[in-house]
Amino acid sequence: ARRSYEFIEVSEPRPGVGQITLNRPKALNALSSPLISELNTALRTFQASPTIAAVVLTGSERAFAAGADIKEMAPLTFSGAYTNSFIESWSELTTTLKKPLVAAVSGHALGGGCELALMADVLYCTATANFGQPEIKLGTIPGAGGSQRLTRAVGKSKAMELILTGKSFSGEEAERWGVAARVFPSYEALMEGALATAETIAGYSKVAVQAAKEVVNKSQDLPLRDGVEYERRLFHALFGSQDQKIGMKAFAEKKKAEWSHE
Ligand code: HXC
Repeated sequence: ARRSYEFIEVSEPRPGVGQITLNRPKALNALSSPLISELNTALRTFQASPTIAAVVLTGSERAFAAGADIKEMAPLTFSGAYTNSFIESWSELTTTLKKPLVAAVSGHALGGGCELALMADVLYCTATANFGQPEIKLGTIPGAGGSQRLTRAVGKSKAMELILTGKSFSGEEAERWGVAARVFPSYEALMEGALATAETIAGYSKVAVQAAKEVVNKSQDLPLRDGVEYERRLFHALFGSQDQKIGMKAFAEKKKAEWSHE
């Protein structure tokens, strides 16, 4: 039975590919707590699904997400935010989903919307996408990892400039600076590109794909020496998988690999 959601849409547009579409158009997909809760439920469902191997997260042509919900945040107090761990649940995205996540960003990706996009494993956008961390204009700062992930993506000086001025940057700039893996001329081309990449990933061994995502993510947390060692250990471990045997045998026989996912 498919769950029904109020603020997102969930579909399976290609074999092995799940799609989550943020759908709160009246507020430009502002990321309210109920929306994030639905997003987490959908991610947990895709993570548990035996048929889904990669996920695409998108918004509308006009807005990926215009930020955390400013109207929800306006009355918050320090003690309330602190004791309820406001925003902590956003991290479920990066901790529960072991399957690759492709973000397809068109229109506004501001504040928490930019941070959500930065959490994805692969970020695609349109040339005219509008990224930014405008929190400074509201008397606050990024709160869902923007100061950390944007800085790792673009370097300290540029991240400082963006976060201290609140100035936006375009999809074209995002691609040039390495925030986005690819940039597309239209929303249609963006969605086609994102779904095609997710479908490609979904065609590989699930064991190898999960390991590949895990080791790349380690590069963001660990010192180089530890990261390289972590990679080597997992690389060694994959010689215990059937799919390594299947993949290398298929190469030698010039055949297409039929993965066992074991
Ligand atoms: C709540 C929002 C919203 C937001 C837009 N809306 N962004 N509601 N939270 N973040 C609502 C507007 O109030 C308006 O509702 C409707 O969406 C349409 O927006 P408009 O402003 O009329 O559209 P437009 O003139 O096209 O301007 C688009 C925009 C602007 C430039 C994106 O909406 C904007 O500046 N939004 C705020 C962007 C922002 O500051 N984001 C960072 C938030 S702080 P009504 O009811 O009036 O029609 C943040 C902190 C993260 O994200 C920290 C932890 C996650």
